[in-house]
Amino acid sequence: LVLVVDFGAQYAQLIARRVREAKVYSEIVPHSMPVEEMLARNPKAIILSGGPQSVYAEGAPRVDSGLFEAGVPAFGICYGFQAMAQTLGGDVRRTGLREFGRTPVTVSESGTLLAGIPEDLNVWMSHGDAVHAPPAGFAVLAASSGAPVAAFEDLDRRLAGVQWHPEVLHSQAGQAVLEHFLYDIAGCAGDWTTTNVVDDQVELIRQQVGDKQVLCALSGGVDSAVAAALVHKAIGDQLTCVYVDHGLQRSGESEQVEKDYVAATGIRLEVVEAEDQFLTALAGVTDPEQKRKIIGREFIRTFEATARQLDAERHIEFLVQGTLYPDVVESGGGTGTANIKSHHNVGGLPDDLEFDLIEPLRTLFKDEVRELGVALGLPEAMVYRHPFPGPGLGIRIVGEVTRERLDILRAADLIARTEITAAGLDRDIWQFPVVLLADVRSVGVQGDGRTYGHPIVLRPVTSEDAMTADWARLPYDVLEKISTRITNEVDEINRVTLDITSKPPGTIEWE
Ligand code: XMP
Repeated sequence: LVLVVDFGAQYAQLIARRVREAKVYSEIVPHSMPVEEMLARNPKAIILSGGPQSVYAEGAPRVDSGLFEAGVPAFGICYGFQAMAQTLGGDVRRTGLREFGRTPVTVSESGTLLAGIPEDLNVWMSHGDAVHAPPAGFAVLAASSGAPVAAFEDLDRRLAGVQWHPEVLHSQAGQAVLEHFLYDIAGCAGDWTTTNVVDDQVELIRQQVGDKQVLCALSGGVDSAVAAALVHKAIGDQLTCVYVDHGLQRSGESEQVEKDYVAATGIRLEVVEAEDQFLTALAGVTDPEQKRKIIGREFIRTFEATARQLDAERHIEFLVQGTLYPDVVESGGGTGTANIKSHHNVGGLPDDLEFDLIEPLRTLFKDEVRELGVALGLPEAMVYRHPFPGPGLGIRIVGEVTRERLDILRAADLIARTEITAAGLDRDIWQFPVVLLADVRSVGVQGDGRTYGHPIVLRPVTSEDAMTADWARLPYDVLEKISTRITNEVDEINRVTLDITSKPPGTIEWE
């Protein structure tokens, strides 16, 4: 275990991921955690992250010198580097010389930390203060024009640090620097993989659940699918999954859950056919927010009724949630499971159904969840699928949602997805909504006749987290193929358009 001490920068998660990429398990802890508590977790090493503050700012987080006296290897990054220098008696000054973004660094001595790294290095910096002299016992390894000491190490005490951010991709040789610290200074083995998680979690889940019954709502998305597969591996038929088929899924999605997923996992699945119920509730509704509310409400009603029914057959005490590590970190961290009323999570389950939660993915990042899914034998098509909104195609039909319109959209969407897969572009884009402008008609000509059909919008986007996005620059020949196939094969569509709006100002979905 490597602890990443979060000094309030946005980089702590990135550092934790990079450490795991080096096959060393890492967790993030807040800087407010007492040193004794950190040491009690018996870490192999501690990494101090960057932070938004100056070490001279009032109330700037301090580092307890006990951390460096315990004999645990430590690595400081940016603020963490300065805090280490200051705590151990180095000279940290506010120079007024600030460095932001790409910065050249000159390596004067490679030592162990910078072994094999180019002498002239471009790295990503973001600092105002600088270390002018290292604490006693440290060797200076590199400098930049604004940072006389940009990297140092003390091999006797197994302490090291860099002024720059090795965790960001713009920093040349960043991963190599981190790995030199982890393997060569801290002596970490580098043998952790996401599959280790399977064995650990299976054991934990068995202990937590005993012989009780567990319920999981499958959405068709990656997280709930992997969480359920893991729990199933641990407790087999004590797990029941519920899949609400609301008729707003894309072509093949329900089959993927009902057939491929069950075949791969052997999970006991209750499929609730609710298409009529959802479409009746959506009849005549065109307002996007109202559609979302109706779909959410119907989902909860259906799930609630099913949960009650199942609970009467076999009393259910646990609910599986696909919570991921970023959610845990962002909501203040913490370990263990919370005993809460399920409606806080699933959104409106009845008060008299009370569950304990099982969250087997709460230490993992999304890409690790995908790896785990593959390791558990789930189909790759399911594990690497693009995000898809809960309200489904209901918010990709601009206008009233009807069965006929859903069929039109499904046909066009399937063509777009098939061609993207055929072109090998699935992993280059974040998501590819296809939107039916159901209330718009335009004139076209097909064969010798006039047509009066609907336009389809292609909305391929690239993104890292869906908070911001850019339109994907798909190759023209792929776009052409999609356009030609859609107008040829989907009768009601006579026009294909491409959405070239970034987010902001547009959102990814149209509604
Ligand atoms: P927007 O359209 O806001 O979407 O740019 C951002 C991301 O969220 C997805 N999305 C949803 N996901 N329930 C979900 O589970 C929803 O109601 C919902 N609305 C949007 C969207 O597909 C994109 O990935």
